[in-house]
Amino acid sequence: MKPHIHICADAEAIAREAAIEFARIAREAVIQHGFFTVALAGGSTPRRLYELIAERAQGRAGVPWESVHFFFGDERPVPPDHVDSNFNLANQALFSRIPVPAANLHRIHGEMPDLEVAAQLYETDLRGFFLARLALRGTLPRFDLVLLGMGADGHTASLFPGGNAVWEQQRWCVSGWVEKLHQHRVTLTPPVLNAADNVLFLVAGEEKAESLEEVILGENDPGRLPAQIVRPKEGRIAWLIDESAARRLAR
Ligand code: 6PG
Repeated sequence: MKPHIHICADAEAIAREAAIEFARIAREAVIQHGFFTVALAGGSTPRRLYELIAERAQGRAGVPWESVHFFFGDERPVPPDHVDSNFNLANQALFSRIPVPAANLHRIHGEMPDLEVAAQLYETDLRGFFLARLALRGTLPRFDLVLLGMGADGHTASLFPGGNAVWEQQRWCVSGWVEKLHQHRVTLTPPVLNAADNVLFLVAGEEKAESLEEVILGENDPGRLPAQIVRPKEGRIAWLIDESAARRLAR
């Protein structure tokens, strides 16, 4: 499906737009099949979105948090209370502020000494959850919403340039060595991202302008620009981009 591109004034405007989309998709999913599944992004851009979701839930009766299931697109090799942990970010900004049942938080165990085991454990959790609810697209999990960011090198989730994860076709979740960071990461794989009903990229910052131009307008080369591998087969894909990151798109 053709990407929908929305240019926002700044990172705050991205968060506000994303919060509206999040609420709309959640509402429709709960009406349609009784629950809402979202894979959260890491990095710094989504923090404000998570805060806004929590703020908007305050004082509004009836947000069916027991029907909302939070997952993660990727995780870093740290414990869940570590400042670099994607779970920690979401926990501080969102989970700790809303009455979501702990059983609805599906995290990647980045603290495990062997992240390959963490990837397998997470895949087992996903398989159990999505198979039990028949929330599938073919043999793949069908997330209602996948939130993603993009790095200045064109990486998304933990699909990094030159890494193997971007070519994975069978597994739902893998671990991989990221040479430029000198660390292992755990990530959902392209088939899973592309089986989602909705994918929403949040991209802010001047330093991303050049790679974003290539990702969106350039030749297809996902080995070098992994964000290009995200092309949902039947789902909707939208990009919320701030003006500085979108600088080279409007020419
Ligand atoms: C992570 C990510 C990663 C992130 C981008 C953008 O764990 O690091 O999930 O893919 O989304 O690096 O990060 P920023 O929003 O901080 O620019």
